[in-house]
Amino acid sequence: MPPTTKHLHTSLSRTGKDYAELHAWINDPVMQYDRHDITKICDFGPEIRARFGEEGLREYIEHLREDIDVKLTKIWGKDAATRDEALDYYGIRKQGRDYTLDMADIKLLQDAGMAAEDLDHSLKVAGRALDIARRVVGGSGAQVDMELVGRGALFHDLGKAKTHAIEHGRIGAEMGKARGLPDTINVIMEKHIRGGLTAAEAAELGLPVKDYTLHKLEERIIIYADRLVDIIYDGLVKVDGAADAERRFEDILNNEIRYGKNDITRARYFGYHREIQGLMGSTAQ
Ligand SMILES: [Fe+2]
Ligand SMILES: [Fe+2]
Repeated sequence: MPPTTKHLHTSLSRTGKDYAELHAWINDPVMQYDRHDITKICDFGPEIRARFGEEGLREYIEHLREDIDVKLTKIWGKDAATRDEALDYYGIRKQGRDYTLDMADIKLLQDAGMAAEDLDHSLKVAGRALDIARRVVGGSGAQVDMELVGRGALFHDLGKAKTHAIEHGRIGAEMGKARGLPDTINVIMEKHIRGGLTAAEAAELGLPVKDYTLHKLEERIIIYADRLVDIIYDGLVKVDGAADAERRFEDILNNEIRYGKNDITRARYFGYHREIQGLMGSTAQ
């Protein structure tokens, strides 16, 4: 079973809350066997719903799913095809629209030396990006690679394990490459600085001169989510959750230099905001 901290991280990425009390309750040393027994979900369900709400009940089931995933991976580590088939059949490995973060990716970030605060930010960006991507799919039927959205968002700041300077994009991409991450994700790390610079802007900032603009919808969703998460959690502007941050996005960027940076960057973010809002059919959760 994964350590409780992993469950806190995945809950945080899904809901914005770590549900520490719920996970501690499930892993109670005396009761843990009963509370991990999937045939008892209906027995425990009402109590969990009363204490932690509907979302908490779902997080309870996610906790069990994650534990099963880890256990089956250990058992079938050598026979990947059999394992994957079983994981898909039981809904343990979420695919397509319902992609959820892989705990091995969270471990990779921790092993790379990412600070808890940066990991927390990365999980929030992943959760926000996945929410936006699902709303884009729901609202427009657009084809969105959910795994690229989730993993790209989770890894976008990998370079912060080494530095918080502007080079963290390039350094993250190098770290990702060294760790065997796909180029589609490494490129997101490299390009996420200021939301996708042109070659001329890169020259001005002293970065390697090339085109960093974002050609994929998945990349633009991640960058939009990154900016929203900063707005929601920095405390620089008072906002009432994600829906409020999305509603007031342009005003906030116009008024806060830290978010808007300069005219070119601000216009780029406005472009992503308008494009993505135009595709979504529902408000933020
Ligand atoms: Fe960053
Ligand atoms: Fe970020």
